[in-house]
Amino acid sequence: MFKYSQKPYGLCVTDDKITPKGENDNMKIIALMGSPKLSGNTARLLSQFVNGARAEGSEVDIINLQEQNIHPCDACDMCACGEKDFCVYNDSMRGIMKKIAEADAFVLATPVWWTGASSLTKLFLDRLYGYNTNKYFGGKSIYLITMLYDGRTYAHPLPGADIVGYVIQSVSDFAGMEFLGHLRGASSGGVLEDAKLLDKAYTEGKNFVRVMSHAK
Ligand SMILES: Cc1cc2nc3c(=O)[nH]c(=O)nc-3n(C[C@H](O)[C@H](O)[C@H](O)COP(=O)(O)O)c2cc1C
Repeated sequence: MFKYSQKPYGLCVTDDKITPKGENDNMKIIALMGSPKLSGNTARLLSQFVNGARAEGSEVDIINLQEQNIHPCDACDMCACGEKDFCVYNDSMRGIMKKIAEADAFVLATPVWWTGASSLTKLFLDRLYGYNTNKYFGGKSIYLITMLYDGRTYAHPLPGADIVGYVIQSVSDFAGMEFLGHLRGASSGGVLEDAKLLDKAYTEGKNFVRVMSHAK
């Protein structure tokens, strides 16, 4: 399993890691969309990734976190950090976790907000504390998409994409997941103006399925 610092960008795809097309059918991927803007930059990058994954024959279910009802984690510890696999809040997390249990892999897309993940994404990640994450995620793969604004010059370089990357690496380590790759979107206008980035998202979606099938 790679550590985040060793893999700054995209999937490591070599011929020996790719499964031929047609052998990837029935892969189930959950796409978690962490931007409140359902037609914004993050959503566009994610939908390109999803199109690529579907073109490789996998089934992708998109969950817009904006449309869910997720209560913030209270740190009440009734769950004993997932040991009891019971969160006192009976909200959208239960349905999401049911889908997660049935999936083979995940892609999480978030805009960078104050050099971290969006509040919707953080809300979701925090609530994983209440579930036995190894049971739901163990042995599965995850891919991360981050989207930030690069139209300003700052006195200090902004590490937002890296910070979210380290967060996902730590969640992956905790949950026994393999963090396979990270697409770092950056734009000063909109991603629609960046055909190269959109193409990259599509290709990464395809490759994610192919690399993942190989690893199975
Ligand atoms: C609350 C908030 C905080 C933000 N913080 C950052 C930041 O720290 N660094 C950055 O590069 N962009 C930041 N942005 C800009 C967004 O990351 C950027 O506009 C991104 O493209 C938004 O994606 P979306 O269209 O999916 O919402 C912030 C935007 C918002 C709304």
